[in-house]
Amino acid sequence: MTAYKELEKIFGTISDLGHVSAICGWDETVNMSNGGGPSRANAMAALSLVMHNMIVDPKLGDLFKKAKKLKGLTNWQKSNLREMHDQWQDATLIPGSIVEELTKVNSTTEHAWRELRIKNDWKNFRPHLEKTVAIVIKEATILSDHYGCSLYDSLLMGYEPSFNSKELDQLFGKLKKFLPKFIDKVIAKQNEHTILLPTGPFAVNKQKELGLKLIDVAGFDFNRGRLDLSHHPFCGGVSDDVRITTRYVEDDFTQSLMGILHEAGHGKYEQGLPRKWRGQPVGQARSMAVHESQSLLQEMQICLSKEFITFASKHIKEVFGMDGPEYAPENLYRYYTQVEKSLIRVDADEVTYPLHIILRYEIEKDLINGEIKVKDIPALWDEKMKEYFNLNTKGNYKDGCMQDVHWPCGSFGYFPSYTLGALMAAQLYSTVKTEHPAIPSEIEKGKWKTLNKWLEQNIWSQGCLHDTDKLINNATGESLNIDYFKNYLTNKYLKA
Ligand code: CO
Repeated sequence: MTAYKELEKIFGTISDLGHVSAICGWDETVNMSNGGGPSRANAMAALSLVMHNMIVDPKLGDLFKKAKKLKGLTNWQKSNLREMHDQWQDATLIPGSIVEELTKVNSTTEHAWRELRIKNDWKNFRPHLEKTVAIVIKEATILSDHYGCSLYDSLLMGYEPSFNSKELDQLFGKLKKFLPKFIDKVIAKQNEHTILLPTGPFAVNKQKELGLKLIDVAGFDFNRGRLDLSHHPFCGGVSDDVRITTRYVEDDFTQSLMGILHEAGHGKYEQGLPRKWRGQPVGQARSMAVHESQSLLQEMQICLSKEFITFASKHIKEVFGMDGPEYAPENLYRYYTQVEKSLIRVDADEVTYPLHIILRYEIEKDLINGEIKVKDIPALWDEKMKEYFNLNTKGNYKDGCMQDVHWPCGSFGYFPSYTLGALMAAQLYSTVKTEHPAIPSEIEKGKWKTLNKWLEQNIWSQGCLHDTDKLINNATGESLNIDYFKNYLTNKYLKA
């Protein structure tokens, strides 16, 4: 067996164990009784350790040396080798003692956050977050020494290897210039109309029926995936067994419906990854940003379009047995595309969302690079909320700097992926619409074939064959260009 084949075998086994871990993680959130927590945590930790030990096995270093000299590898094999090598590098760079400390500190801080956020208790949360930041900086120091980049960039790479903070400063700088005035104009325009609220109750089983119907139409494959309940919606599982979740509230069907469509966008990407490369690193999703581009393309570009809402309104009326002006497509569309300056990122619309991300990006970049300290966060948060939204968050930590789970979990460098994904989604959909102008009218008829086929060919089936920049170039003919997003917002919110 060649060194390459041997590596394929090892990484295949690691992926099989990862499969078990993914389904266990889903089960923990969706099904498990509370009492199962501690022993499940032990089981999951044991499995992670087995996987970790397999990847840091010293014999892998030799195998990579030999595999790199092999002639005749196909492009896919070469990319697979590169991805395997990257995973191995990341795993071996950080000593086990730091990995262990990271896991412990992050878990303690996250638990503290769950308790203290509700109480708006920044004072007691701060020391926890300080510990998390300190250990994350320790990790980033090792990574940045190796990769020769800034501390923050070394973390960013874990979520989207194709963009560094210099590029993000440019992209986000342009958005920061464009959005505040644009938002004011949109809000002024939207104030000309009154919006009727659909009022429930909307039975949960009917909401589920509606969600299942619409993601079926969108092409989610139920033979290789399912929809369940969880407190926080997510997309988990593995490519041939995708687990998406949602939660329902009786008096409002609209949020959970779009939530399901968003998660199904993630799910379709997973299901469409190259079948020949299941279980290999090159067969995995490209990055968090590309993942988010697929969910946002489905949710924002398609499902929050007049065409889709026209299609969906028929099903909404039918499922709930409702009929009235509040269910008319024009009203539902206005309802779903309302723009509002708000405190909470997860409730934000697509127009204000990037500013929430930029605010977090600016703070976490300075924090990890050592320009500011944890104690400076609340004041900076207030300052930026004032500047971007003219909103006051003074003393309101719960809906301010304590609102997100990312920092308590030690996930620094994650936030930019959301906005990179939104920019990619706009560029991808603009391209596919130029190539296939009939797509919007097809969507209005519930026909997703042309769109899905294009996405499968250009994005899903590409796995990790190329880096993100090449992937976007191949699909759209150019690198990420913010103008697509600006034009998309302008056409949707000011011109139409
Ligand atoms: Co998402």
